[in-house]
Amino acid sequence: MLKIENLHVEIKGREILHGISLEVPDGEVHALLGPNGSGKSTLLMAAMGFSGYAVTKGRVLLDGKDITHIPINERARAGLGIAFQRPPIVKGIKTKHLVAICMNNGKIPGQDTSMRKDVEILAEDMHCRPFLDRELNSGLSGGEMKRSELMQLLAQDPRMVLLDEPESGVDIENIALLGKAINRLLGRNPEPNGKESLKEKRIQRRRSALIITHTGHILNYLFSDRGYVMIDGYIACEGNPRELLGTVEKYGYKECLKCVV
Ligand SMILES: Nc1ncnc2c1ncn2[C@@H]1O[C@H](COP(=O)(O)OP(=O)(O)OP(=O)(O)O)[C@@H](O)[C@H]1O
Ligand SMILES: [Mg+2]
Repeated sequence: MLKIENLHVEIKGREILHGISLEVPDGEVHALLGPNGSGKSTLLMAAMGFSGYAVTKGRVLLDGKDITHIPINERARAGLGIAFQRPPIVKGIKTKHLVAICMNNGKIPGQDTSMRKDVEILAEDMHCRPFLDRELNSGLSGGEMKRSELMQLLAQDPRMVLLDEPESGVDIENIALLGKAINRLLGRNPEPNGKESLKEKRIQRRRSALIITHTGHILNYLFSDRGYVMIDGYIACEGNPRELLGTVEKYGYKECLKCVV
């Protein structure tokens, strides 16, 4: 689904990523860990194609198609979606209008009452109803913003989802809500009981995701297939996400540093 090959990324002339390679196959969820400033957000922003993130070497492929140099809107249409670590506030655009446009495949919808209803139902599910009439992310608390971001992604319904710390600043109850919403986004059983067979898990899967998480809390609500630790713009380690988290909790990232020097 998403393949990143030997990606080198510069911000303002400084190389931040020094040859990142990873692959998220169809229907899998991968977790990206790493200390502050290691380049995790840079990887997602460069994969999505934001300006300011100059790819100097390497490629980004979506479904085998090279998207390294195509504009963001075309990447979004191709099925890539992102939820930001720090979502932007956009003045002059009401949340409900953006959600309706996302639901309408990027086009401005007409006065369709069924679409208005769909927007309201989604907002209700995501506990976002009070923000629909506000400008995008304006005046929202940290946790409210994260919910609003996920609501927008659910409306867009991308096939490959990039989530940058979806649980940061979110209280325990709302992490459960976010977990459910992410499972819905990924087309999975909203409440995995851990007893499903591998076949059942695969059937439930529809979408793929690359999720940045510091605490791993969100992984309590999702099946994650693979994890990576990024250190100083390199992938230091990859493997079972739970084991990686356990090792990091026990020994700290300084142990991972040994693998990149
Ligand atoms: N717009 C920018 N201008 C200058 N430097 C930047 C910019 N954006 C990111 N950087 C630098 O790139 C490096 C990687 O930042 P990035 O945001 O990717 O880290 P991160 O791993 O996501 O960290 P965190 O866990 O704190 O979110 C940092 O040293 C950061 O200061
Ligand atoms: Mg970050």
